[in-house]
Amino acid sequence: MRYRTSADPFPPFPDIPDMSALFSPIKLRGLALSNRIMVAPMCQYSADDGKANDWHFTHINSLALSGAAMFCIEATHVEAVGRITPGCLGLWNDATEAALKPILASVRKHSKTAVAMQIAHAGRKGSSYRPWQGGQQIPLSEGGWQTEGPSALPHKEGEAPPRAFDAQGLARVREAFVGAARRAERLGIDALELHSAHGYLLHQFLSPISNQRTDQYGGSLQNRMRYPLEVFDAVRAAFPAEKPVGVKVSATDWVEGGWDLAQTIEYAGELKKRGVDWIDASSGGVSPKQKIPLGPGYQVPLAQGIREATGVTTIAVGLITEAKQAEEIVASGKADMVALARGMLYDPRWGWHAAAELGGEVEAPPQYWRSQPSTQKALFGATTFGAR
Ligand SMILES: Cc1cc2nc3c(=O)[nH]c(=O)nc-3n(C[C@H](O)[C@H](O)[C@H](O)COP(=O)(O)O)c2cc1C
Repeated sequence: MRYRTSADPFPPFPDIPDMSALFSPIKLRGLALSNRIMVAPMCQYSADDGKANDWHFTHINSLALSGAAMFCIEATHVEAVGRITPGCLGLWNDATEAALKPILASVRKHSKTAVAMQIAHAGRKGSSYRPWQGGQQIPLSEGGWQTEGPSALPHKEGEAPPRAFDAQGLARVREAFVGAARRAERLGIDALELHSAHGYLLHQFLSPISNQRTDQYGGSLQNRMRYPLEVFDAVRAAFPAEKPVGVKVSATDWVEGGWDLAQTIEYAGELKKRGVDWIDASSGGVSPKQKIPLGPGYQVPLAQGIREATGVTTIAVGLITEAKQAEEIVASGKADMVALARGMLYDPRWGWHAAAELGGEVEAPPQYWRSQPSTQKALFGATTFGAR
């Protein structure tokens, strides 16, 4: 398929379809993507001591064929105490690294998707039961662990508080992020996303709700941003210069007096100076007092606000489920890309269906070429197959 370009006459000739913005290419540093769709990182709570297993093999290989140009591996924790649940994925030793290797080898064999990895630390939200076990804090007496955070403030009233990090602890966790970045590079990961959202460790430093430190890491906005920026710098320096590093943020706590869009814009500006390649704009997670105005595309204005104020490449995420909705977000310049989580679990070929609807093209493995609808002969590009 040829897309209309600015050199073509307008209105376009009928044989030259209007270009879909969602299915137009984008470059993130040295990484070229053929469309603007990312499979959002999604914890599976199914690892063994941080190690990926057969569930991850099936899940990741399936979503690597979604038609999204980039698949982001779930929150991958940089140390064991930084896991949300005992089932969370990790990348902190040779065993966790080795477990991901065959999965990535299979993805590379059957898919052309770029593979990003979200690297994460849960801070005070660690030591939780899996969501389907209730998701509440696991007490030490039931096999939980002592969490650490910016301040000794529990996430929820009545919970055991985290231990406040000292300088040594901060250095240890920063180095753990660096270690995970190096292992990710060894695994051939194409891009990293630093998890600075949803009330996990880096967000806990940013928000005055969870950070009440009195040293250089607490108080003013500049001080609250200091540790997340130090971690970003360290990860950026440890990952190859041509590969992108993005950051997922909660652009607001949805709590009066908490972290908000204005502060996020300052943070995004600081990240931009340090070479961030995208901001993935989510929200909430730091306080049970949050009041989230849920609705289709409810976080899109946050991505738009960040993009307009800073010019940073943004990814919109959150209740984006329809092809035309995603197209409108990108075409109108509200965000540069979209990420889908639940919509992809529900329809693991979401990208194919969106391409069919919008006149785009997606990569598909030859084993599946014959699924091409009779009205969509160019959906998978130039494919030929036959039989005798
Ligand atoms: C099963 C599941 C697991 C998730 N795990 C993560 C995660 O590891 N990291 C993250 O940043 N967000 C995580 N999220 C949030 C999604 O990435 C996304 O921001 C959110 O679900 C909104 O997008 P959606 O409406 O398309 O689902 C998870 C969401 C789901 C449904």
